[in-house]
Amino acid sequence: MKKVLQEAYTYAKQWMGQGKVADYIPELAKADPNHLSICITDLGGYTHCIGDSKIHFTIQSIAKIIILATALKSVGFEEVFSRVGMEPTGDSFNSIVRLETMHSYKPFNPMINAGAISVTSCIPGKSPGERFEKILYNARLLLGNQELTYDEHVFYSESKTGGRNRALAYMMNDGKVLLGNVEEHLEVYFKACSLRVTCEEISYFGAILANNGISPRTGKMIIEPFQVKVIRSLMTTCGMYDASGEFAICVGIPSKSGVGGGIMGAVPNRMGIGVYSPALDAKGNSYCGIKAMEFLSHALELSIF
Ligand code: DON
Repeated sequence: MKKVLQEAYTYAKQWMGQGKVADYIPELAKADPNHLSICITDLGGYTHCIGDSKIHFTIQSIAKIIILATALKSVGFEEVFSRVGMEPTGDSFNSIVRLETMHSYKPFNPMINAGAISVTSCIPGKSPGERFEKILYNARLLLGNQELTYDEHVFYSESKTGGRNRALAYMMNDGKVLLGNVEEHLEVYFKACSLRVTCEEISYFGAILANNGISPRTGKMIIEPFQVKVIRSLMTTCGMYDASGEFAICVGIPSKSGVGGGIMGAVPNRMGIGVYSPALDAKGNSYCGIKAMEFLSHALELSIF
């Protein structure tokens, strides 16, 4: 394992200097584009790492999985999928175009921003604080860190500048798909995206999904197997946005990326993978991260297809 991680690291490092750190959330622009780490958590619960595996970064869109898991646990499959679809879009993660042109304001899937905001609105609670606590509770279990918290600077940075997400949310509110207080839903969503994680932690998260919802460290069930099936299917078809098709062919691992530079992969019944490198390609996925996943997939024959 050590040897294959070293080889994947050397391979992915060749692309360092390609891509660009996200700057549409100003606070994210501070990330160091030279960071790279790769971690694998096996189903014995052991985590193998290389590179900058203890650096903290914000989870960003990988939180969409935690939001979905929390909503499925809270209100169930029928209710969640009455507010969001299950189909890939082929559009960018923050695209607004289909909300209007499909003559329905129901977003296509929970992995794009509009879909994740709609799923967030399903999580019940008396206040945005209480609703975020439910997400945080699951995040702490899924990332194996009871101290996990969110990055206030990134949260405020996105709250102040998130015009695109506001536009998506108000559009869905106008179409009666997103009910209730739009600003409160956005607060919960932005806080979830700002969770501070490490590469080691996201590989453990992947291992829980790989292990059908059971923690490989504690043996406890954290997500029910049927919900894991839903989540892994959506990761496969929509987890890398409009690059999901190419990723399925070249890598073939149910995965979810975030603009913070992380990618979490779950190889069913084999392992969880975490990669981190903040420079992104044009579709918002970690440039070196994808290269590392490609290498691992070939070296260890991990494609599910
Ligand atoms: O809502 C946003 O735009 C960010 N908080 C998360 C987007 C994201 O991570 C897309 N990923 N590749």
